[in-house]
Amino acid sequence: MEKIRVMIVGYGNVGRGVVESIKRNPDMVLAGIVSRSPERVKKTVTDVPVLPVNEPDVWMKELRPDVAILCGGSKDDLPKQGPEFARYVNTVDSFDNHSRIPEYFHAMDEAAQKAGHTAVISTGWDPGIFSLQRAIAGAFIPGAHAYGFYGLGPKGGLSMGHSDALRTIPGVKDARQFTHAIPEAIDKIRNGENPVFEPGDMHTRECFVVLEEGADKEAITKTILEMPGYFAPYKTTVNFISQEELDAKYKGFPHDGIVLAAGVTGNGNTALSEYRCQWGSNPEATANVLVAHARAVVRLAREGKSGAFTILDIPASYFSLMTKEELLAHCM
Ligand SMILES: NC(=O)c1ccc[n+]([C@@H]2O[C@H](COP(=O)([O-])OP(=O)(O)OC[C@H]3O[C@@H](n4cnc5c(N)ncnc54)[C@H](OP(=O)(O)O)[C@@H]3O)[C@@H](O)[C@H]2O)c1
Repeated sequence: MEKIRVMIVGYGNVGRGVVESIKRNPDMVLAGIVSRSPERVKKTVTDVPVLPVNEPDVWMKELRPDVAILCGGSKDDLPKQGPEFARYVNTVDSFDNHSRIPEYFHAMDEAAQKAGHTAVISTGWDPGIFSLQRAIAGAFIPGAHAYGFYGLGPKGGLSMGHSDALRTIPGVKDARQFTHAIPEAIDKIRNGENPVFEPGDMHTRECFVVLEEGADKEAITKTILEMPGYFAPYKTTVNFISQEELDAKYKGFPHDGIVLAAGVTGNGNTALSEYRCQWGSNPEATANVLVAHARAVVRLAREGKSGAFTILDIPASYFSLMTKEELLAHCM
């Protein structure tokens, strides 16, 4: 069986994770990487071609990809790159701006349908496998509301978006933000209360900030605590530390989370479903989910299915390397 040829678009944390993940999936081969900064990528990647992103004729001919895994940022890269790449090749991406997913889906669906390609959007762990858990929890426990919590362990979970937000503040040299779930809020759900939460009722936020020389601690603390959307609705603590301490104690991209849904069945029997993920590296975990979706995309495309899909539209067997008989024997 010929291997699935994967092209990586954009080489950051998730892109690096995809390179590693492909090595663990024997039906895949890394055809090459395309990037806006190929010279930067070539400094560390020497075993596959690295090509400029704006030369589709070159990379389509040289790399002959079956699927492109789009690893650019959700804020500025994917809304532009997604529809552009769907014109040339089947795609998978992890677009995670939740409120804009419907809009992004329709843009990708139109571009992919027009070109006769297949695109899976917004997959990873959230959106991605947690979306699936939310959908099936609501279907299997009718009327149940699904809740997502992040950062259950003592260290909490590193939020890359909130860390980026801290780094945009003038005077901040570097920063990490850890999200902590509030255990009492989880208990309320487990008790079947189906509570209505404000964002600040579910999580607290812990910031570790390295200052530029001469920066005003008090002004920066105030800016953080009052930042709308990101920190203002939450109980937030701000710790100022040195770069050495930040690098030594808070390295890597750990994250974890849980989707819970509680309700009743029959005549009032309680029902609770919980699905938990714990990742030593959020981008590597996301990359593994993307690579399994690359397999599914190629299968959908070979069946002649074009347009945009999400994890909710794809049979789980399409992600797996197991045969139908193996799935029946081992997973049922
Ligand atoms: N759904 C989920 O569960 C989930 C989970 C985690 C992340 N995500 C999404 O994945 C996206 C990518 O995350 P990431 O951590 O990989 O972002 P990142 O490291 O910032 O990389 C994003 C892009 O920036 C460019 N880049 C990276 N490092 C660079 C550098 N040193 N200098 C210049 N350009 C550089 C790369 O594009 P070029 O190579 O083209 O320059 C890369 O594709 C995030 O925006 C997030 O939305 C989703």
